[in-house]
Amino acid sequence: MIERTLVLLKPDAVQRALVGEIVSRFERTGFKVVALKLCYASKETAGQHYADDQAWLKSVGEKTKKSYEAKGISVKDDALTIGNRIRQQLMDFISMSPIVAVVLEGHDVIGKVRIMCGDTAPNKSAPGTIRGDFAFDSYGLADTSGRPIQNLIHASDSVESAKREIAIWFKESEIHPYQRVDEALLYRKM
Ligand SMILES: Nc1ncnc2c1ncn2[C@@H]1O[C@H](COP(=O)(O)OP(=O)(O)OP(=O)(O)O)[C@@H](O)[C@H]1O
Ligand SMILES: [Mg+2]
Repeated sequence: MIERTLVLLKPDAVQRALVGEIVSRFERTGFKVVALKLCYASKETAGQHYADDQAWLKSVGEKTKKSYEAKGISVKDDALTIGNRIRQQLMDFISMSPIVAVVLEGHDVIGKVRIMCGDTAPNKSAPGTIRGDFAFDSYGLADTSGRPIQNLIHASDSVESAKREIAIWFKESEIHPYQRVDEALLYRKM
């Protein structure tokens, strides 16, 4: 299915001059850039993106707890408390310096881009993935430093989140559908 996904190159990606490198990986795969801009995230936009949504907050907290438990460290805070703390950190982090927002289009683009990003924690991301190749941060290092994991990139995780997130970052008039010359080959029918 032809889908669209939202990619954010977070402040660490822009500060480390990895914008071209990351975008080019998606282009090389065959995905089409239909919107792209460098911008500052306002606190309001950051709050919409990292929504005050119980299910998401809990899942972020659960993942964190699991990563600690895997190391034999018990965590006393519940998942929701952890999730809320991380949400605040993410809102501050993403608005601290410019980010690049991108909409990519292509067949099954949502899932493939998540695979290309790698695991949330770069110290566990496979080589060949964006986080695995360009970052080494971990839950432990981030938490002891009181900041979000610096993992360079955000990518929508489902059709529903892509729809919601694209609408937060882009007006309809900023998204540009067009035909690329190689699409005749990429979507070729025999
Ligand atoms: N325990 C934690 N400590 C610090 N930062 C965290 C922690 N857990 C999550 N984060 C940050 O919150 C972001 C969102 O967490 P989530 O579980 O949704 O991961 P993700 O889906 O891989 O990443 P993203 O939503 O940014 O694509 C992570 O990318 C990371 O930057
Ligand atoms: Mg996520």
